Amino acid sequence: MKKILLLITTIMTIFCNFNAHAEENNMLVAYFSATGTTAKVAETLANTINADLFEIKPAQPYTNADLDWTDKKSRSSVEMADTNSRPQIASKVDNMGKYNIVFVGFPIWWYREPSIIDTFIESYDFSGKTIIPFATSGTSGIGDSGSNMQKLAPQAKVLRGERFPNDISAEELKEWAKEWL
Ligand SMILES: Cc1cc2nc3c(=O)[nH]c(=O)nc-3n(C[C@H](O)[C@H](O)[C@H](O)COP(=O)(O)O)c2cc1C
Repeated sequence: MKKILLLITTIMTIFCNFNAHAEENNMLVAYFSATGTTAKVAETLANTINADLFEIKPAQPYTNADLDWTDKKSRSSVEMADTNSRPQIASKVDNMGKYNIVFVGFPIWWYREPSIIDTFIESYDFSGKTIIPFATSGTSGIGDSGSNMQKLAPQAKVLRGERFPNDISAEELKEWAKEWL
């Protein structure tokens, strides 16, 4: 009988520790991706650093025509030409309060963060949190994305962030993120 009790206690202790550990997670990887490239990097990053993952989904999805940067009248061209444009997001992060580090991923559009990222940044109270931008792109760097985002969330600490190649590995992402783990 004693042995059985001991076994039950041990199993419960392991289970509770496991749960406590899961609740310690205070990192979120939030991303917007129009064609899947940033999504892949965001998923790899979240898996490798054991962060929660949230997709910033547009309320109105972008069609191929919307993404045509050669057309001055396409939705993305119109939005990106107006720094006050704030495309709607379909859903909200459940409990932003529990995170103190938020990685924000996006494709570079016209050398900066897409307008929907500005919507995301303005949708929460980021006081006391660190926001770490990351991006994928054809060739451009992350540019002024970080300082643009900092202006929209003055209570947060927004880092400059990093632009990654499409084929960045889990190991490389872990190495990059290790200073915040
Ligand atoms: C509207 C639009 C504007 C873009 N502007 C740039 C740019 O300024 N510089 C660049 O290198 N790539 C640019 N790209 C390419 C994307 O940044 C690149 O394909 C990115 O990896 C796509 O990520 P996603 O699949 O997560 O949407 C642009 C793409 C679109 C649709």
